[in-house]
Amino acid sequence: MRFSRRDFLAVAALGSLARGLEAQEEKTKDARRAETKTMALKRPIIICAANGLSYLDEAFEMLRGGADTLDAALRVVRGPEDDPEDSSVGLGGLPNEAGVVELDACCMHGPTRRAGAVGGVRNIKNVSLVSKAVMEHTGHVMLVGEGAERFAVAQGFSRENLLTDRSRKVWLLWKETHSDQDWWGPGLASPEWKTPPEAPPAPHSEIWEKKLKKMERVAADLGIEPEYRLKAIHQVLFPPTGTIHSSALNDKGEISGCTTTSGLAWKLPGRVGDSPIIGAGCYTDQDVGSAGATGSGEENIKVAGAHTIVENMRRGLSPQEAGMDALKRIARDYNHDMNKLRFVDMTYYILRKDGAYAGVSLWEGYEPDRPHKIAVHDGTKRAENTVALFKGSSVGWPPIPRLGK
Ligand code: GLY
Repeated sequence: MRFSRRDFLAVAALGSLARGLEAQEEKTKDARRAETKTMALKRPIIICAANGLSYLDEAFEMLRGGADTLDAALRVVRGPEDDPEDSSVGLGGLPNEAGVVELDACCMHGPTRRAGAVGGVRNIKNVSLVSKAVMEHTGHVMLVGEGAERFAVAQGFSRENLLTDRSRKVWLLWKETHSDQDWWGPGLASPEWKTPPEAPPAPHSEIWEKKLKKMERVAADLGIEPEYRLKAIHQVLFPPTGTIHSSALNDKGEISGCTTTSGLAWKLPGRVGDSPIIGAGCYTDQDVGSAGATGSGEENIKVAGAHTIVENMRRGLSPQEAGMDALKRIARDYNHDMNKLRFVDMTYYILRKDGAYAGVSLWEGYEPDRPHKIAVHDGTKRAENTVALFKGSSVGWPPIPRLGK
């Protein structure tokens, strides 16, 4: 084969470009090594979403005492599952549109490279533990619906009503006020029924003021406590997607993770989000690290968030860079259209096998005064603000329609 002068120059140029890139890559690796050194990495360490903060002490002691990493992570997420005041997980979780609580969970055990998951489970509170039972006592990875419930009962879990009085009332508030074109709320025979006004539309603010006043009235009639009414109205107008993830690493370098949720409030019965999807809501690889998610489940499934992050770390990205890349994929899915992305919310909790960690989120918080946080215990328990891809807060979905003028 003969090389022309032009070929030679092209190859030489490519060679020098490649050397440039190699040098650049080496510099980036050096920077990452320096970043990691200054972080003074510690093991054992356990991380979780902010709603797990108060359960971290016990879980950290478990790790220090030699407990299995998955059991420590499960100790954290079982806290909100048992807590009737946490409306995003387990007992007291907000129900689906039919008023039924349906729970999702999954777990991955790094040392044995096993996984378990359950989706759309009714009547069983600790679905995170059921996901572990699927992992340990079946040849499957995932069970859903009635089959998962029957399996849980066979394993000794008790059936219970997961709909607390408060969650039931908030669901009723949603039912009675989200539409005046259905059969919920006062019917024709009720003294409460009023002829719809024929007056010209009032200004936007006035209509909303009236709507909110009506919601407050219905909330009071339903017996929702005064101090909870505003939160209940917010949950009705902007259905939340609460969840909890936890990843734990012991001093031997063993790592595990788990995620559990009641999913999106008022969802269609049978809707399953990202939380029980291995690779979306949680992913752990003993060779690399672990990641989990809270937020808009549908968006996270499309980018296989937790798996994407762990694979990014395998390629050498730091936990923060790895998480930012997953968030950028969500932004790309909407062609960076901020009019749409402001309704999306996503937080990732990331733990690398050496103890480096990061909490990253699409937005800084749900509201300016409610920043997203990652909770950490490595001997010192703390909650830290996440690093956000976009400045500002996300906006609740659905958009408030403009009524009147
Ligand atoms: N991330 C919780 C859910 O969307 O179900």
